[in-house]
Amino acid sequence: MRFRNLCLLASVSFGAFLFQAGLTLSGALAQSSAALTGTVSSTEEGNMEGVVVSAKKDGSNITVSVVSDDKGNFSFPADRLSPGRYTISIRASGYILAGPKEATVSAGQTAWADVKLGRVGGRDILPLLSNAEWLNSLPGSDQQKQFMTNCVGCHTVKRILTNPHTPEEYQQVFRRMGTYSPGSTPVRPQPLLPGPRGERPPIGAAEIGPAANYLASARSAIKRASSTTSSSSRARPAAPPRSS
Ligand code: HEC
Repeated sequence: MRFRNLCLLASVSFGAFLFQAGLTLSGALAQSSAALTGTVSSTEEGNMEGVVVSAKKDGSNITVSVVSDDKGNFSFPADRLSPGRYTISIRASGYILAGPKEATVSAGQTAWADVKLGRVGGRDILPLLSNAEWLNSLPGSDQQKQFMTNCVGCHTVKRILTNPHTPEEYQQVFRRMGTYSPGSTPVRPQPLLPGPRGERPPIGAAEIGPAANYLASARSAIKRASSTTSSSSRARPAAPPRSS
């Protein structure tokens, strides 16, 4: 019995070994047949890890993305990019793509792209932030920001903080938000029908006061921060290159 168990164990681990070997083998194969490889770097950080590099073929609506490794290298496997011309884009907090913005993939060859990023600072960076990055960069505790998870069903966090408001005005904004149906967007607001369910406040009555005060103070903190950084970035000799 014990012997049989041992045999079972041995075959299981042998299977695992084969499986692992298979993985490394296919990994090596994929690497050798890359369609597009390169390095991501910036003047500020040198080679950059964790940058999302995306390629979208002309005329296609599919975007393929890979992430750069700890040496800044990235690689698109050949089976993911068919030959053609691709638009390159990147995602890295605080950076935009300086170039190249295009790459050509040819059958049976590995194209190389030396991807350079430019740092953006001050006000320039605000439109580039995702909801999560906005929430992370706002002052205050997670507890204070918690209510904003109810605000992103219809629009971005950025919209909430684009116009300055007093706490009283924010309270009115909250009430107005409660009159839109879920799935509304700022381009197409859909008011709820009047009646018993004609209001769906995005935040509870007890939270309204603290949330309004929080937004008003966070908004003025952003304004201060971006006006100081943008004046220092003006002193820089050359503006960072902008992507379209
Ligand atoms: C059910 C959909 C919906 C939800 C949920 C929602 N909003 Fe809105 N929001 C809208 C729409 C639609 C607009 C654009 C029309 C308008 O301004 O009334 C908007 C615009 C805004 C604006 C810009 C207008 C201005 O006066 O500055 C702010 C600020 C705002 N929302 C804050 C919030 C906050 C804070 C929350 C969460 C507590 C929230 N929204 C939740 C639908 C929503």
